[in-house]
Amino acid sequence: MNILILGSGGREHALAWAVLQNPKTDRLIVAPGNAGIAQIAEVAVIDILSGEEVVQLCADEAIDFLIIGPEGPLAAGVADSARAAGILTFGPSAAAARLEASKAFTKEICDACAAPTAAYARFTDAAAARDYVRAQGAPIVIKADGLAAGKGVVVAETLDQALAAIDAMFGGSLGAAGAEVVIEEFMVGEEASFFVLTDGINALPIGTAQDHKRAFDGDTGPNTGGMGAYSPAPVLTDDIAEITMDKIILPTIAEMARRGTPYSGVLYAGLMIEGGQPRLVEYNARFGDPETQVLMMRLGGQVLDAMLACANGTLEKMQINWADDHAITVVMAANGYPSAYEKGSQIGGLNTLPGTSRQMVFHAGTTEKDGQIVANGGRVLNITARAQTLAAARALAYDMAAKIDWPQGFYRSDIGHRAL
Ligand code: AMP
Ligand code: GLY
Repeated sequence: MNILILGSGGREHALAWAVLQNPKTDRLIVAPGNAGIAQIAEVAVIDILSGEEVVQLCADEAIDFLIIGPEGPLAAGVADSARAAGILTFGPSAAAARLEASKAFTKEICDACAAPTAAYARFTDAAAARDYVRAQGAPIVIKADGLAAGKGVVVAETLDQALAAIDAMFGGSLGAAGAEVVIEEFMVGEEASFFVLTDGINALPIGTAQDHKRAFDGDTGPNTGGMGAYSPAPVLTDDIAEITMDKIILPTIAEMARRGTPYSGVLYAGLMIEGGQPRLVEYNARFGDPETQVLMMRLGGQVLDAMLACANGTLEKMQINWADDHAITVVMAANGYPSAYEKGSQIGGLNTLPGTSRQMVFHAGTTEKDGQIVANGGRVLNITARAQTLAAARALAYDMAAKIDWPQGFYRSDIGHRAL
């Protein structure tokens, strides 16, 4: 079949790499892709936020299956446009993607289905929000309701930080995303991510992961989109996964269906685990980045069958074959990330590295210039490896990282430390 993947990051490189391992794939196009993706698939330049342009590309290239990577096109209704045009699509409707696009909506769903999550209140008025945090005290968590590219959450350790966050959000620092603010109880515990495919009724867990959000070793420095990840997450035991399915995931799926907005696609639950009990931190309507890189390493080509079953509504019959393995990914980022960084520096040594089912460098922000791979973003490469143990996978990944010649980039040297 002919497949189109939307997106341009390490997540989409990993998805493309896994999809290509499945013999059902005849032709793969990724829009807009990056330099690493261009080495394994065709790339096409369109506006992926435009349903019209995506549907046109699908028609022009006789696409049989559309896979939507990032949240932007989902929130913009690209899955709706594609389904209306009769294209088999992986990814939720805009109405269902509100589970990521609106934090207040997610809280409303948790209330309706009694899913455990942080206590909260929602505000459209700064004065009322300020009164509320003064009454609650710190630590407390201030969240912009809408999509804010990872900048919409402030974990305030003091009352002053909380008040400043409220003023900034209502002052328009995040644009329309901050017009409503959700204020949450600060939850303690260990965070982990749980990934489930659902066709709107049935749910199939496809793996667990943990990422490292801080820029520097020892979980210090500013928050980033994620500096590395590993799968499985040891804290997310089989027991906790079962509780998560029973109390959080399945009730959410049922509530979305009951409202006439069934959720079809991957549901990514961010969890806080304490005393053997999971609570929901947030939902994402897409695969995680860089978590997908480790999930795809472990799943390989079978993920295409699972995504097809998800889109076709036949997930009930689907099974995942697990190898008892571990995967890890180390992010190489441009110096300065997550603040200002330069683009355009050359990256050497990549073509000396293996590209196998156990070791793979996924590209995130790269482009090709005069036959050379150059950095073109904040997070640039995802050095990914798989082995029988996390320690062995980690050794393989750091071996590869050491062979990359890129003085303008950096990476953390302690990815996986919590699990080792
Ligand atoms: P989110 O975008 O909702 O995942 O929030 C980003 C990060 O903020 C999470 O990964 C947590 O580390 C932290 N966070 C969010 N909500 C809470 C909460 N209620 N309690 C403690 N930490 C939180
Ligand atoms: N790595 C976090 C995310 O994809 O949202």
